[in-house]
Amino acid sequence: VMDVEKMEGIRRGRRLLLIPLPLEGHINPMLELAHILHSKGFSISFIHIQYCTNSLNFTFSISSFPHGPLPLPQPSSDLLNFLTLLNTLALTPFRDCLAKLLSHDASSEDEEDQHPISCLISDAMCFFTQAVATSFGLPRIVLRTGAISSFLAFAAFPLLLQKRYLPIQECQLEKVVEELGPLRVKDLPVVNTNDPHKFYDLLRNFVHETVTSLGVIWNSFEALESSSLAKLTHQFPTPMYAIGPLHKYLQPSQMPHPHQSCISWLQQHAPKSVVYVSFGSIASISEADFLEIAWGLANCDHPFLWVVRPGMVRGCDWLEALPSGFLENLGGSGRGHIVKWAPQQQVLAHHCVGAFLTHNGWNSTMESICEGVPMICMPCFADQNVNARYVSHVWKVGLQLEKGVERGEIERSIRKVMEGKEIRERASILKEEARLCLQRGGSSYSSLQRLVTHIMSFNV
Ligand code: UDX
Repeated sequence: VMDVEKMEGIRRGRRLLLIPLPLEGHINPMLELAHILHSKGFSISFIHIQYCTNSLNFTFSISSFPHGPLPLPQPSSDLLNFLTLLNTLALTPFRDCLAKLLSHDASSEDEEDQHPISCLISDAMCFFTQAVATSFGLPRIVLRTGAISSFLAFAAFPLLLQKRYLPIQECQLEKVVEELGPLRVKDLPVVNTNDPHKFYDLLRNFVHETVTSLGVIWNSFEALESSSLAKLTHQFPTPMYAIGPLHKYLQPSQMPHPHQSCISWLQQHAPKSVVYVSFGSIASISEADFLEIAWGLANCDHPFLWVVRPGMVRGCDWLEALPSGFLENLGGSGRGHIVKWAPQQQVLAHHCVGAFLTHNGWNSTMESICEGVPMICMPCFADQNVNARYVSHVWKVGLQLEKGVERGEIERSIRKVMEGKEIRERASILKEEARLCLQRGGSSYSSLQRLVTHIMSFNV
């Protein structure tokens, strides 16, 4: 058996074509995967799908969209239609792009461009890529950027419909879904829509094209999701590779450092005293919820660093819904700091951060787990509901807001998490497990070796 590191020279002749879903929470893990596989000796080509806010203009890496711009809704206001349309409209341009890429390569003078494409690695949500991969006879594996546990819930939708857990009924919200362990009906990964069947159709395609791919890469690790991973491998024969946490393969110095003001602000506070607040890159909240959060933070007496994206509060440009002088009247010098974007991974790794009020997007959840930061969970939609339930009731590294978004509960939960010993201890244990799985012989380390061998087995 040749040592994988020694095989680098052989692998250098192979190229992987990576296709992320064009959303922040999906592009980041795909970029991290690109780094990891490049370090293992593969050449990487990245296909980025560009779109405009109300029109779509696919510009792939070597060809621009040939039919002119097409309409596509804002993902933050209509994610379901964004995903549905993307998977329909992208198919032909992607096929054209790949055809060009394959013929262009033969004549390219760039040595890496001439490396044969071993396989496509597509975001699982870009399921249009399967038909195209098949038509070119290219192997396709997928990166699923969410948790294994939430995927199990998505895969169970046909059963949940049959058993009438879905569509969700008000009177069943607290009922435990026996087939899905700790989840209650209200934790199911649904989105708010007038057309649930459109959502079920999207999920059916997403699940089908994921489990019929030649392999699934997960940004997760075995110690975290061993029971869900076991269930998944029992249900589907697809090879599974839990190689996460993806962002921890990179040295912090390799990451860009914009928005440094956050770090210097954090620096002024006591260790583990600051509440970091962020709802990821697409979730939006109502003005009423925004104000409940503001007052919850104001009343909890802890310093807080709050990311409010412009447009995140529905109907507002930025902070105009806040009472005037809100930050100045908090008492203490600079107890609250509000920014439009933060270097989140560095913030969570900072020793002054003591808790994370989060929407539980999977990247945020993983990033928090890796730094041992306890969470206050305020899920907004889809897989975030499942992640929040696992954080609070399976991993026990956080508390979930159970009464909607209400200032008193936010204040109490922050105090409890900040002062509670048990949650913090659990968070330290998970942090250590997240570190160990990447070490030589650890589960993610070994899964990555298996993945490399798997890709090498494709005939090109
Ligand atoms: C979306 C979905 O909401 C999520 O549930 C799914 O699992 C992935 O896609 P998003 O809502 O943006 O993602 O949340 P999340 O998964 O947490 O990803 C956000 C990313 O942006 C994180 O990597 C986070 O570090 C980064 N971020 C966010 C910043 O760097 N700065 C910020 O201020 C906010």
